[in-house]
Amino acid sequence: MKFRAIMGALCAAGLMCGVSAVQAAESVEVLHWWTSGGESKAVGVLKDDMTKQGYTWKDFAVAGGAGAAAMTALKTQVISGNAPSAAQIKGPLIQDWASQGVLVPIDSVAGDWKKNLPPEIDKIMHADGHYVAAPFSVHRVNWLYINKAALDKAGGKAPTTWPEFFAVADKMKAAGIQPIAMGGQPWQDLTLWEDVVLSQGAGFYKKALVDLDEKTLTSDQMVGVFDTVRKIQGYFDAGRTGRDWNLATAMVINGKAGMQFMGDWAKGEFANAGKKSGSDYICAAVPGTEKSYTFNVDSFVFFQQKGQKAATPGQLALAKTIMSPDFQEQFSLNKGSIPVRLGVSMAKFDDCAKKSYADEQVAIKSGGYVPSLAHGMAQPDAAAGAISDVVTKFMNSQQDSKSAVAALAKAAKTK
Ligand code: GAL
Repeated sequence: MKFRAIMGALCAAGLMCGVSAVQAAESVEVLHWWTSGGESKAVGVLKDDMTKQGYTWKDFAVAGGAGAAAMTALKTQVISGNAPSAAQIKGPLIQDWASQGVLVPIDSVAGDWKKNLPPEIDKIMHADGHYVAAPFSVHRVNWLYINKAALDKAGGKAPTTWPEFFAVADKMKAAGIQPIAMGGQPWQDLTLWEDVVLSQGAGFYKKALVDLDEKTLTSDQMVGVFDTVRKIQGYFDAGRTGRDWNLATAMVINGKAGMQFMGDWAKGEFANAGKKSGSDYICAAVPGTEKSYTFNVDSFVFFQQKGQKAATPGQLALAKTIMSPDFQEQFSLNKGSIPVRLGVSMAKFDDCAKKSYADEQVAIKSGGYVPSLAHGMAQPDAAAGAISDVVTKFMNSQQDSKSAVAALAKAAKTK
């Protein structure tokens, strides 16, 4: 009687109507690392949708951009037999987890996914011929965010080449503006470094970071990449050690710094702060990367739950919701990304998202659509981690570019 009374009250309040008691009782534990202002708003859309469907959302948020800390927490949970219902996993890591036999397929809600996803991305959501992951959105990594007022003081034109970039940075410096806001974690170093690799052309990027081709990794051009990174570092402030990415974004939002190299989750921060692209800030492709697109697709995988053979109703509801057109739109509007589901209207999105969408279509056709190494899309963990160590060591010491390149070639062989 008491239970029915509670259900009745919830129904009257617009919650949990028309769902069975079994569903109402299921709580879905969700592990993710979306804890910045924009990220929290975006994941909040999923939480609200699930709550409306009668599920209890158990938030397992592990702070730390790009998810290194979240991945450590996840391993501990799974080893101790307490796997969450769903976790934020992407790229080749999806296959890794699937090969451990701990994931459940979600095919029953993925009937129309194949025709609604770009083939490159549809493939990543599979293991052994089954869908085991649900994709949220597409983030473009190779962006440069620029404070509009700072840019106006530095000539007003977003740089499209490295010489133009350094000219703008010098002008900002001369105007008393900190040219670059940079955070201080290995993944942020790697994000900048892969941007510079990409500026050598998508073909060079693919050979270096997808094929791990030794000749490309040890080329003079790669030495030049490290030289450029070193030069860019000359425009960082002294306080970057340990700084989170969103605090660096806040420096650009508040006009304390002129520019930030960051994927478009940074746009979620601008949006959350009420800033508008075009008038408050500019989004530009990283110099030399206009025709290329480093993609980063977030997804959830679903862990087998105690006493269950297949995906639970809550897990299936999560997967179904994530790929629904309405959710795809609302999530990306908050997250700074674009919907991964094809055919979702871009009408409500800002100019930066529209540019991201248009550039994505061009890059897919021209071969410029490449997976981000820094965001777990290009290589398994071991090789990506070893390369990241090389880049971070270089950026936090006085190592010369030639010895960094030698270390890079060695790191790429890590299995
Ligand atoms: C990326 C992730 C994004 C964003 C960013 C910073 O790896 O794909 O969704 O949240 O980390 O945390």
